[in-house]
Amino acid sequence: MEFSTKVTAPEKLACACIAVGVFETQKLSVAAQSLDRAAGGRIRALLESGDMDGKVGTTRLLYHLPGIAAERVLLVGMGKDAKVHSKDYRDAARAAVAAILDTGAAEACLYIAGIPVSGRDVAWKARQLAQTASDAVYRFDKMKSKKPDPRPLARIVAGVESRRDARGAELGLAQGRAIAAGMSLARDLGNLPANVCTPSYLAEKAMKLGKQWKFGVEVLERADMEKLGMGALLSVARGSREPPRFIVIRYHGAGKKDRPVVLVGKGITFDTGGISLKPGAEMDEMKFDMCGAASVLGTLRAAAEMKLNLNVVGLIPTTENMPGGAASKPGDIVTSMSGQTIEILNTDAEGRLILCDALTYAERFEPQAVVDIATLTGACIIALGHVCSGLFANKQALARELLAAGDQACDRAWQMPLWDDYQEQLKSNFADVANIGGRPAGSVTAACFLSRFATNYDWAHLDIAGTAWRSGKEKGATGRPVALLTSFLMKRASRD
Ligand code: BES
Ligand code: MN
Ligand code: ZN
Repeated sequence: MEFSTKVTAPEKLACACIAVGVFETQKLSVAAQSLDRAAGGRIRALLESGDMDGKVGTTRLLYHLPGIAAERVLLVGMGKDAKVHSKDYRDAARAAVAAILDTGAAEACLYIAGIPVSGRDVAWKARQLAQTASDAVYRFDKMKSKKPDPRPLARIVAGVESRRDARGAELGLAQGRAIAAGMSLARDLGNLPANVCTPSYLAEKAMKLGKQWKFGVEVLERADMEKLGMGALLSVARGSREPPRFIVIRYHGAGKKDRPVVLVGKGITFDTGGISLKPGAEMDEMKFDMCGAASVLGTLRAAAEMKLNLNVVGLIPTTENMPGGAASKPGDIVTSMSGQTIEILNTDAEGRLILCDALTYAERFEPQAVVDIATLTGACIIALGHVCSGLFANKQALARELLAAGDQACDRAWQMPLWDDYQEQLKSNFADVANIGGRPAGSVTAACFLSRFATNYDWAHLDIAGTAWRSGKEKGATGRPVALLTSFLMKRASRD
């Protein structure tokens, strides 16, 4: 999908389809007013007839209006004009793109970035336009033997009314394009089946991205991990025939001495639960258990495309969690890279075992902050559903930054407690710590477990079990939280 900006009066723009906003109160956006005037009041008449109520999510397609150069005019419902909220804007943009996809138009110009949205500038509106459009056209057909016909829609133009807006829109589209490409990469990796997307596949993908975007990429193998003493990570890998990998990716966007942000992504390419085997229903969805890793790759790609002035390190511990003959058994005790011993009371709580060694490894980068991203607990879905990711942090300023980034990106997180009171649940009679804390507050005790390994830097943990993919008819990876993370990095990069 190509994106560009145009400063032209909408009625004069020769284009296959032009989209303008209308409101519930039969009010027209500035662009809709221009069209209406040129077309002798046809748009206002349509609204008065009651055929278009302007509600968010509704659209009406009109053909060959007199006085208008474009072939098609799409009216896009924007809701009440008094205050268009961020969510309304995104929903309206998505509905508009869906309606355009239903036509044969190869190109469409949307005049919606000029509509006031509370608290947002034109760059934000253009960014969201690029993101929602890319999201709407995304398909995963890599594994189908017959590919569906390519869609005609190839170009989206953000129409704006002034030169000043054009500059902001141009910037926003470029950012939106980079974020969307990162999300699409994350979605592809998530959607790939586990027999294709193995730990070695992820490592090769990281190497390819490294070539393309000039990342430094280093891939540690089992022997390297043994040398480092990553006993927790290795204990998860024991049950599988697939060799584990530990992927280290470096994006250099700032000076050599600048401390990096480290992103750590859970890369379980399939989670059977191990000896604490999961029930069969919906187990296929455990191919998505590497979505944290995928979001790290997607975010690094977005950061590189935007040339962010910041150093970022991506760490991806990746393995399968299988119940092979050599697999860990409940009650086994392993020694992590930090030296802490862990009693594995449940082999299905494997994410924290691979992450804890990565968190220890992260210390060597003297990071300005570490954020780990993981499909860590079913309990997080019970607590927060599929709306937001769970956020935990050992530094409130970092938590606030990530919450704000999520809000900015419409990819929100909600903070959960990381109080010492919960640490008690992780007591073990035989080792330093147990890998589970019982049913109460399952996502909190998982985060508390990780916090014991993130002691030497500012750290946050995002539990994306509810947000990384959708189940049911629309089953598939969402690309979240690439937008949140990129927004966080953008802010850090523009700091003085
Ligand atoms: N990958 C799962 C978490 C998960 C479950 C994500 C369902 C999305 C949907 C994780 O490895 C896991 O199995 N967690 C256990 C932890 C428990 C054994 C303490 C869980 O949530 O049940
Ligand atoms: Mn598990
Ligand atoms: Zn898992």
